Amino acid sequence: MGYPARKTLSIPTNVVPFPKQLVARIEKADNLKFMRTLSDYSMHLIVTSPPYNLGKTYETRRTQDIYLEDQAATIAEATRLLHPRGSICWQVGNHVSDGEIFPLDILLYPLFRNHSLKLRNRIVWTFGHGLHCQKRFSGRHETILWFTKEDEYIFNLDSVRIPSKYPEKKYFKGPKRGQFSGNPLGKNPSDVWDIPNVKANHVEKTEHPCQFPVGLVERLVLALTNPGDNVLDPYLGVGSSAVAALKNKRNAYGCDIQSDYIEIAKQRVEDLQTGLLRTRPMNKPVYEPTPRGIE
Ligand SMILES: C[S@@+](CC[C@H](N)C(=O)[O-])C[C@H]1O[C@@H](n2cnc3c(N)ncnc32)[C@H](O)[C@@H]1O
Repeated sequence: MGYPARKTLSIPTNVVPFPKQLVARIEKADNLKFMRTLSDYSMHLIVTSPPYNLGKTYETRRTQDIYLEDQAATIAEATRLLHPRGSICWQVGNHVSDGEIFPLDILLYPLFRNHSLKLRNRIVWTFGHGLHCQKRFSGRHETILWFTKEDEYIFNLDSVRIPSKYPEKKYFKGPKRGQFSGNPLGKNPSDVWDIPNVKANHVEKTEHPCQFPVGLVERLVLALTNPGDNVLDPYLGVGSSAVAALKNKRNAYGCDIQSDYIEIAKQRVEDLQTGLLRTRPMNKPVYEPTPRGIE
């Protein structure tokens, strides 16, 4: 006799439903209009990835000057909203024109410095998939510019440590001889993050062409905010930042001009709340194929 059919859906193991009292304010809106409804100093983390002015489905290609003016207005508003101990993380790649690349972090850096924001890290996000270029090396990294307003800022390193390579390593001389030399909580994840980008078979893939991996935002949320803090994404897309915030007991604020993305974002938040959203675990090692013949 076979087993009876299961009645309930099996729930993936890495999901954490979030408490209902958290704020999840997600709206279809232009970001300047949305941000103007928020109070000065109210956001502990503003994390986002703006359009790169490439003419993707969600943007109109403009001159570089107009693009930068637009970014300057959003950055000014983000600075107004930033809590004194808070952080801004702007994740960008290259603008490409006639085969020439323009790294957006270089172009945008002065716009943050105009507000006296201080750069704490230029995090290199590296990933394995993307276009195969014929006339230059294929791009496999983008960057995250992490700025703070003040010198005293939230930085919870212990929340984002990763396993040490040699956890058993001990001091071999001196007063600590024989004791473990590494931090028992693991090591600093460094400023180079190898996290798969969200392509075809990724568990988080939606119809958005350029979504954040939730794990990438989670590392920023955990390190740069405390539970109950406010996280804003002014280019929210399908809500990856909101998911990362709520999953870790932070309030989520965000907007996107496209209603279809906002619908997906709201659905993802609802799925998170009911324990049905699947996300790739934050520190899951990247899959390394075994070369043929080497077992
Ligand atoms: C690179 S995508 C961000 C994707 C997002 N990180 C995610 O995980 O889904 C940039 C987004 O900015 C949105 N956008 C463009 N101009 C905007 C504006 N003025 N206000 C709000 N959203 C805007 C686009 O619709 C697009 O979804």
